[in-house]
Amino acid sequence: MKFTASLLAAGLAAAGMAGQATAQDVDNLSVAYEEGGRYYTEDDVPTYNIGEDGTVDWLTYSGFRRYHSECHVCHGPEGEGSSYAPALKTSAIDMDYYDFLDVVTNGRKVVNAASHNVMPAFGDNPNVMCYIDDIYVYLKARGADVLPRGRPGQREDKSDDIRAAEEACLGL
Ligand code: HEC
Repeated sequence: MKFTASLLAAGLAAAGMAGQATAQDVDNLSVAYEEGGRYYTEDDVPTYNIGEDGTVDWLTYSGFRRYHSECHVCHGPEGEGSSYAPALKTSAIDMDYYDFLDVVTNGRKVVNAASHNVMPAFGDNPNVMCYIDDIYVYLKARGADVLPRGRPGQREDKSDDIRAAEEACLGL
């Protein structure tokens, strides 16, 4: 499915819609700064933070839970992929963050002789959209091979900023 993702990226770039550099051009993984318990690359893209003792940032932990409630039925446990849908641990590394968001928000349907698989649009689903960065950084950590399978053990606390943003997003 790497192939499909890069074709899509190439198509968007050709159409002049990509805007951002592709994930391959920049360091899309390393933490450049932290803000309120969230970690970002130098391009302001969310990323994971895993300490030497294996302690994960809150978003990575939360993403594990959200992924396994909303995405794994199609995409397989741990972002490993299934016969129906691609391995998102690879997609999260290869795809541009904004393209990733776009597919989750708007869905994608590829109908050809070989495939009739549909990625649903989640744009109206707060249980996905309020946690999309969590899911994204969790999958990126899986794809970068820095997070073992299974529920992450030690984790950072949920920050006040993250809690406030979550409540605002869910309308609590
Ligand atoms: C009903 C099944 C289903 C569910 C649930 C689902 N997906 Fe998908 N998803 C798919 C299929 C099928 C594709 C491949 C579509 C295609 O061929 O373009 C896909 C593609 C994607 C892609 C593009 C991957 C790539 O490499 O091109 C992303 C990103 C994605 N899904 C994210 C998610 C996330 C995040 C969730 C959970 C919030 C989720 N999906 C839940 C079926 C699903």
